[in-house]
Amino acid sequence: MDRLVVGGGARLNGEVAISGAKNAALPILCAALLTRETLELTNVPELNDIGTMLKLLEQMGVRVSREEDRVSLDAGGLHNPVAPYELVKTMRASILVLGPLTARCGEARVSLPGGCAIGARPVDQHIRGLQAMGAEIGVEHGYVQARTPRLRGARLFTDMVTVTGTENLMMAACLAQGETIIENAAREPEVVDLARCLVSMGARISGAGTDVIHIHGVDRLHGARHRVMPDRIETGTFLCAAAITGGRVRLTGTSSGYLDAVVDKLMDAGCEIHSEKAPGSESILIQAPSRLKAVSIRTAPYPAFPTDMQAQFMAINCVAEGSAVIRETIFENRFMHAVELIRLGAEIQIDGNTAFIIGAERLQGATVMATDLRASASLVLAGLVAEGETHIERIYHLDRGYERIEQKLGALGAQIRREQA
Ligand code: UD1
Repeated sequence: MDRLVVGGGARLNGEVAISGAKNAALPILCAALLTRETLELTNVPELNDIGTMLKLLEQMGVRVSREEDRVSLDAGGLHNPVAPYELVKTMRASILVLGPLTARCGEARVSLPGGCAIGARPVDQHIRGLQAMGAEIGVEHGYVQARTPRLRGARLFTDMVTVTGTENLMMAACLAQGETIIENAAREPEVVDLARCLVSMGARISGAGTDVIHIHGVDRLHGARHRVMPDRIETGTFLCAAAITGGRVRLTGTSSGYLDAVVDKLMDAGCEIHSEKAPGSESILIQAPSRLKAVSIRTAPYPAFPTDMQAQFMAINCVAEGSAVIRETIFENRFMHAVELIRLGAEIQIDGNTAFIIGAERLQGATVMATDLRASASLVLAGLVAEGETHIERIYHLDRGYERIEQKLGALGAQIRREQA
């Protein structure tokens, strides 16, 4: 198993290109299941989660070809609407095939994801929504089994804001008979990017980006081309990397428009951040002070502060001046990075879903364990400023969601290398 070795002390400086968004690409790959024609995508990041999703689609009969950031998918020969446990257990987002398969094939068999490191994360809302659209759903031998002659449009209301739940139901509704209204819908930019792709495939969707989405079902969708939006969490993570090291970095191929809550907090911490727009391209320039001020955050659905940036801000607060409170409202067990940060010398106390952090003058390198994707990113950030070397084990979590992170950070001047343990 690979590990990362990060040497602390270098200020990051230079330019980094941001990749396409994992959380937009995953549902968009599943959208290919809705048509017999070819879906051509660009700006698809090269990540383990994307590889897993492509494998899943291939074993269903989807023809996949991939060259650099281009992926083309042809689900004309779709014959096996099954998502097996072996693939689903490594990536919860596999549940995103449930809606499209049920809509297109009238049946689907998708393994239940099971528990995951950051909490229980059930999929009851996905299932309830499909049932309201007329699907018969049972759970047999750990698999969700859906059947329906054709889905019917319905008025859906989710109990909580769920991103993949909204995406699953929106995809299913595209081929349903009649109109579907999703209330309490997730407003995340990735939902909007998926809707844009579906509309270019012939879907009739309005309201994506608000909390009420209307979908008029159509009989069939056609092929299309789509460019995946930039990854706002990778963007936020590199902004934090520049911030924590007191650096100056330009992030290209991305936009601060998706990241207002994160940018505001970094400015409160003392950073200067400017958006730079040229025809056809956008970038963000960050200049950080030599020491950041601590900033409190509370995670909540978009447009509030994203839970996927919580761990990175914990790392920042560990070395900032002053103290901060972090409240996690989305997932019930998302502070596992705290114990690892404490091993580096951070002062953190956890009480339920609240973390209290007092900024330390310095952290010290140690061996730490990555526990989930964003937790891993926080350990890399802490390693960039800890004295000596930080060894981060189990970085397969990081490889699920960050494209070539050590090359990108290395090009900005970080001392970082991958080792085989
Ligand atoms: C997506 C993102 C993930 C991000 C999260 C919250 C993808 C592939 N992943 O995950 O990176 O951290 O949004 O922004 O886009 N819930 C239920 N029942 C359901 C569905 C959700 O109880 O049927 C709960 C979850 O346990 C969680 C909350 O609702 O507490 C929000 O989860 P959700 O938005 O669904 O997260 P994901 O879509 O899995």
